[in-house]
Amino acid sequence: MIHVHQLTKDYAGFRAISEIELVIEEGQVFGFIGPNGAGKTTTMRIMATLLEPSEGDVYLWEHSVVDEPEMARRLIGYMPDYYGVYDDVTVREYLEFFAGAYGLPRRERKRVLDDVMDLTDLVKLDGKVVNGLSKGMKQRLALGKTLLHDPKFLILDEPAAGLDPQARIELRALLRELSHMGKTICISSHILTELSDICDAVGIIEKGQILAQGSVASLYKKMRGTRIVTLQMLGRTDEAVAALAGLETVSDLELSEENTLQFSYTGAEDKLYTVLKPLVDRELPLIGFSEAKKDLESLYMSITQGDVQ
Ligand SMILES: Nc1ncnc2c1ncn2[C@@H]1O[C@H](COP(=O)(O)OP(=O)(O)OP(=O)(O)O)[C@@H](O)[C@H]1O
Ligand SMILES: [Mg+2]
Repeated sequence: MIHVHQLTKDYAGFRAISEIELVIEEGQVFGFIGPNGAGKTTTMRIMATLLEPSEGDVYLWEHSVVDEPEMARRLIGYMPDYYGVYDDVTVREYLEFFAGAYGLPRRERKRVLDDVMDLTDLVKLDGKVVNGLSKGMKQRLALGKTLLHDPKFLILDEPAAGLDPQARIELRALLRELSHMGKTICISSHILTELSDICDAVGIIEKGQILAQGSVASLYKKMRGTRIVTLQMLGRTDEAVAALAGLETVSDLELSEENTLQFSYTGAEDKLYTVLKPLVDRELPLIGFSEAKKDLESLYMSITQGDVQ
């Protein structure tokens, strides 16, 4: 189990993260979600022993990253959001270099490299020069590098950033495979939908503070009481907005697409028809009335807007 405890980091007087408390259970894929500047990288770099906290600590299976950094480094594989470029080395040479740096015994290196390259689908790229790889290939190589010393806990900082849809699907499959292998994974992103189907739990961070955490289902449960309703019309949306704007149970009313209105309904379930009535009374050309699928994106919006406490 990973326990982030009261973690605080000040950069020259600026508090980047404040008293962060997170628990990641063994074997979980944990999504660390938040907008730019929220403090994801700061938290992850502390987890990875690359940055010292101002206060608090991170316990990896009870080992403190502050007091036992060497031990922690054996347990973690960290993939930064940006990594350096090594001009003229091939994929295999690159991995060999890091296998050496991690102190892997020479006689085991070939087997480990073959396993990792097989897992991350790098076999075909064996002799390719690192600089000539595409973004997606580089991402797989960076992930391969973090796996060389067989860490139990993977800290992946925005691994999906900049990948095309196909590469994203492949990354998801790879993360699932790593999870099945028993790895505990913490993966950050500001794109929520990207994580929804692979995360067992998520933590939402904004301005250095955790706003919510738990399984996606449990966060939805907390949100119960708010429904996001979508109205589709053939026109006259201005009149619909005017008709709905005065209702107490309607908030966050917006034109989400042409002829499509969206709003949060906070009234009783069996009174939902009351929002339809003023529209029907005005004979507005309504063709669709449905509850928007509560994806992670809308969940996130409600959390950051303070609907979920
Ligand atoms: N070395 C540093 N010195 C001063 N301030 C920093 C430093 N690193 C980060 N910060 C500040 O700390 C805050 C958190 O930054 P951090 O990089 O952790 O956010 P993030 O959630 O990873 O954002 P992004 O989604 O853009 O990667 C930001 O306000 C940032 O400007
Ligand atoms: Mg970051």
